[in-house]
Amino acid sequence: MKEFAEKSISAIRSQVGSERVICGLSGGVDSAVVAALVAKAIGSQLTCIFVDTGLMRKGEMDAVREVFTNHFKTDLRIVQAESRFLVELAGVTDPQEKRKIIGKLFIDCFTDEAAQIEGASFLAQGTIYPDIVESGGTKDAPAATIKYHHNVGGLPKDLKFKLVEPLRELYKHQVRQLGLELGLPEEIVTRHPFPGPGLAVRCLGEVTKKKLNILREADAILLEEIRAADWYNKTSQVFCVLLPVQSVGVKANARTYENAIAIRAVSTTDFMTAQWCRLPYDLIDKISGRIINEVPGINRVVYDVSSKPPATIEWE
Ligand code: XMP
Repeated sequence: MKEFAEKSISAIRSQVGSERVICGLSGGVDSAVVAALVAKAIGSQLTCIFVDTGLMRKGEMDAVREVFTNHFKTDLRIVQAESRFLVELAGVTDPQEKRKIIGKLFIDCFTDEAAQIEGASFLAQGTIYPDIVESGGTKDAPAATIKYHHNVGGLPKDLKFKLVEPLRELYKHQVRQLGLELGLPEEIVTRHPFPGPGLAVRCLGEVTKKKLNILREADAILLEEIRAADWYNKTSQVFCVLLPVQSVGVKANARTYENAIAIRAVSTTDFMTAQWCRLPYDLIDKISGRIINEVPGINRVVYDVSSKPPATIEWE
């Protein structure tokens, strides 16, 4: 990977010359690695854009800020768009409708910010080899429509920028190796995938700030315990889903009528099929106990034992 990094750095330098490059950060591995690579190649000519949709997990934006301003010292622009997203999502319960709204608003926020960056003529994107295969870029590609909805959170092809896509030939595991080689923290490089529409598709029914905060707290506890028990790298995706269901419980000798959280943990190699993870009962017990005791508004936790197919990994 050292050789690949060196070659890519000189290829990027000769491609962009002295022009300005912008790069959208999503909090995911691919965009982080491409930003780190471009930062190494052209330093202050890179501007990164992070759209804060308000749909990210706890601490996610701080982690991005820490790495890309303090460590890589890039010009990082954070677009504060939480209230715009919440306003547009108010009253919307249909999952596809949510995706459309989020996808469109994300592009609007990104392009508005990009338009303010003077002299930007290149866009660096974390396109990797499987993305090209999935979108029909090779003759043995599966139908592009299988994952059509997964473009939510991405950018359209017709933006008026020349593209810099240095990860086009790499598989995910190679992207992770490259990230480590470039000095990205292991926590970013090994992180599970996170969907473009973020917590909106894990907050079933209408998305509100209050529900997102409950979900964020529960999810943070889940991930903390999964990491502490050394299960993070043995699973492919682990997350909480806030169910639009209330049930009766009892806390401190009083009746409660509160929401339920579902825990989803899967293992997969290609994300087209997935098995639910056999987490140890004691670990599930600890997570459930902490969520019920520490997250106001939750009095019940259930464990999702559905594999894909027929269930999908996300609930919406
Ligand atoms: P499903 O739920 O279809 O998810 O089994 C398969 C994988 O794709 C992720 N996913 C998305 N990723 N934009 C994305 O970038 C999306 O709209 C989206 N929807 C699902 C999901 O988290 C899983 O890894």
